[in-house]
Amino acid sequence: MTQDELKQLVARAAVDEVVEGEILGVGTGSTVDFFIDALKASGKSIPACVSSSVRSTKKLEALGYRVLDLNEVESIGVYVDGADEINADFAMIKGGGGALTREKIVASAARRFVCIADASKKVDVLGAFALPVEVIPMALGVVARALRALGGDPRERDFTTDNGNRILDVHGLRITDPKALEDQINAIPGVVTVGLFARRGADVLLLGTPQGVVRTARG
Ligand code: 5RP
Repeated sequence: MTQDELKQLVARAAVDEVVEGEILGVGTGSTVDFFIDALKASGKSIPACVSSSVRSTKKLEALGYRVLDLNEVESIGVYVDGADEINADFAMIKGGGGALTREKIVASAARRFVCIADASKKVDVLGAFALPVEVIPMALGVVARALRALGGDPRERDFTTDNGNRILDVHGLRITDPKALEDQINAIPGVVTVGLFARRGADVLLLGTPQGVVRTARG
């Protein structure tokens, strides 16, 4: 099976995690795009969504979903999103699509985070995928120096986020303590968000494998 076929498989399975009548949190990326299509095809009824990016908002609205600002919402039931890497503790690297800050905010408001990923995303140690860090533009230099001091090799992405900021992709990290590194990078002045989702990791992982979807819930 191709990677896209595996993404479609988990995207379809994720529809079963959606609770009808509850506000749904929607992440960003190609796996999430497949999920939005599968949700529409299922006919499941949700009152509204909260989206983590302009890209997902446009897709949801084009399909007729109501998209609310997070400030209009008391709580979100389920948040469905992809990942660039996920480890055995359900800590993730996210931000390959550049939406990490809004993803982290929407995830923080959700009762349950359902991660949808093809099998290539499951890793023993996070870091082979360059770690995205969203940075206030005037701080790119100081943040890059601080990231180098932590052992990384930050490279600026040719991309501006939905929040008007820039992304440094940090290569060369072997992340053995994701929570500690998340705290360390978040503490650097000028960092908006680090794409390490360890403090608030996933609660459920749907992993698309050639043998089918494997569902695991965090113990
Ligand atoms: C976007 C993300 C995505 O969830 C992550 O990059 C995975 O993307 P895809 O589903 O396209 O493989 O964090 O910021």
